[in-house]
Amino acid sequence: MRKVLIKNAKIVNEGKIQDGDVFIEDGIISEISESISAKSPDVSIYDAEGTYLLPGLIDDQVHFREPGLTHKECIETGSKAAVAGGITTFFEMPNTLPQTTTIELLEEKFKLAAETSWANYSFMFGGTNDNLSEIEKIDPKSVAALKLFLGSSTGNMLVDNEKVLEQIFKKSPVIIAVHCEDEQTIKDNLAECMERYGDDIPIELHPKIRSEEACYKSSSKAVKLAQKTGARLHVFHISTAKELSLFNSKKALKDKKITAEVCIHHLWFNDSDYVNKGTFIKWNPAVKTKKDQEALLQGLLDNHLDVLATDHAPHTREEKKNVYTKAPSGGPLVQHALPALLQMYHQGKISLEKIVEKACHNPAILFQIEKRGFIREGFKADLVLVDLNSPWAVQQDNIFSKCKWSPFEGTTFKSRVTHTFVNGKLVYKNFKHQPFSKIAERITFDR
Ligand code: DOR
Repeated sequence: MRKVLIKNAKIVNEGKIQDGDVFIEDGIISEISESISAKSPDVSIYDAEGTYLLPGLIDDQVHFREPGLTHKECIETGSKAAVAGGITTFFEMPNTLPQTTTIELLEEKFKLAAETSWANYSFMFGGTNDNLSEIEKIDPKSVAALKLFLGSSTGNMLVDNEKVLEQIFKKSPVIIAVHCEDEQTIKDNLAECMERYGDDIPIELHPKIRSEEACYKSSSKAVKLAQKTGARLHVFHISTAKELSLFNSKKALKDKKITAEVCIHHLWFNDSDYVNKGTFIKWNPAVKTKKDQEALLQGLLDNHLDVLATDHAPHTREEKKNVYTKAPSGGPLVQHALPALLQMYHQGKISLEKIVEKACHNPAILFQIEKRGFIREGFKADLVLVDLNSPWAVQQDNIFSKCKWSPFEGTTFKSRVTHTFVNGKLVYKNFKHQPFSKIAERITFDR
């Protein structure tokens, strides 16, 4: 039996920070208390003095590009970057090549992950205008959710047939996660800009093209449809202040039927950053104004927004260097989301307890994940140690994502992830991964 003892940690969990030890047997947390002694010589002991122990982060939205787009990323490299960033579970998106739009293709991805993933995994099934019969076959106990693009983005998976959409909302056996941006609004705005600039549109106009109006129109439509049909809706990557009013901040998360996510880039960047970062911070939805950025943080703190994720979506440096219309949207984020959140903690913007609530506990509650997301006896030992006072600079040679760039390049973070445990096994320590072992598991859901 594998036995691990983490001693002298400051444990951040369920709204509290407490000193203590954690004992792990065969990947399961078996004891948490003030002081635990190793009862036998075969226990691996980690002295966590001076560091904080968090549940591993659960990232409900990543694009690891496999199959088909593996020049940008693959499950192995994406998950390797994830564990270096303290993310121990990810849900991967269906806009791969081929797209994940049949149960057979979905199961192929699970097979790939079982062989190569460093972190626990699930995948979202992709809905289209014509695969309702497949959607109905999704197993809620072993598949994270259904993903719908209500605005087209990388991979062109737009669902724009209104009748089909209503049927999907009525019949989906799982949570429906949506990308909301109104297609016609974007098309009109883009056409106007192209008339003036051709393909070389100034990047500062990205949030005017993929505008607040485009976001609100689409998000409010999705929310209305969910209210009409009773569907369980989760709206991805909210990027504007205006959309916050669509979400209920009073209900307990477990009782909400409509929930929302915010991503790290929308909390970190605003439109003043386009001048320096250019297309390297081009995302769909776009990074918007400082006012939006501040409102999103407030919305996270006051529970209009339920979970924090990355939308990790790498493209190569060369692809990103293209002119506006040809530069794809998206960027790598899994490795740096937690250090960035901890930076926000140092800036007094968010507490450690809130980070853990939104990035660890809440994804587990929202998706009804079995036995993860909390530091509790009987739960899987997905754990992260962070040192809050150990500055490091993001640079090309310490980036694990295959694309080897980051929107955070040049940033010095005050905090670092020192250790990551997946199912009780140390997989990453101080910028080095341990030898690969197939320790990651397919996530199961209590539904
Ligand atoms: O910026 C984005 N990039 N937004 C998405 O919705 C998709 C993603 C990608 O896959 O590149």
